[in-house]
Amino acid sequence: MDGTIKLTTKRLILRKETMADAELLYNALGCDPQITQYTGWNPYATRASASEKVAEDIRNYEKPGCYAWIIQHGEEVVGTVGAYGYDPDASSIEIGYSIFRASWGNGFASEAVSEAVRYLFENEWINRVHAWCHSENAASSKVLERAGLRQEGLLKRAIRNSDGSLSDQKLYGAIYKEWGL
Ligand SMILES: CC(C)(COP(=O)(O)OP(=O)(O)OC[C@H]1O[C@@H](n2cnc3c(N)ncnc32)[C@H](O)[C@@H]1OP(=O)(O)O)[C@@H](O)C(=O)NCCC(=O)NCCS
Repeated sequence: MDGTIKLTTKRLILRKETMADAELLYNALGCDPQITQYTGWNPYATRASASEKVAEDIRNYEKPGCYAWIIQHGEEVVGTVGAYGYDPDASSIEIGYSIFRASWGNGFASEAVSEAVRYLFENEWINRVHAWCHSENAASSKVLERAGLRQEGLLKRAIRNSDGSLSDQKLYGAIYKEWGL
């Protein structure tokens, strides 16, 4: 497995994180409540946790099945995409991603997530990619469908919202043999 190598798409560069990214991730992801509206957790919520998250991602580059990319449009950082929880027995992994709010609606998530999924299947030979998605997160559903994942299930009242209410959660997935068909 090659792990988190540099990837390029038509408009974007996906590259490894460095410690210099932590402050930007804290400001753009940690300080924006809309980013975590549908995800229920925020590893960048404080400067310290953002630093620890980036340091952990960097340490994990040494381990097989750990992926954490910074998404860049030209010189500008616009978000992150990663894959976690690699299960070597099932050859399966979960993906997650965030785009800075100032860059929403440009197709960046669709482009970056599609490339990450392609890489996991075609380069890393991972058999199954899945993602969890809040049932009201319509933008994220579109991103996952564009990347070739399909809804596999619906977990009723499985995610706690910040106002204390519970919402349904969709499970999206794809296996390599069927992906892109
Ligand atoms: C979800 C997220 C990554 C999308 O990023 P993005 O770069 O704006 O996504 P894209 O531009 O590639 O595509 C989004 C699509 O959803 C559509 N969309 C956006 N908001 C929508 C809404 N409220 N309802 C319906 N569709 C919506 C967009 O119009 C676009 O479709 P189009 O290309 O047909 O116009 C971004 O909103 C985000 O970072 N959210 C917070 C973190 C998060 O939810 N991560 C995913 C966890 S599963």
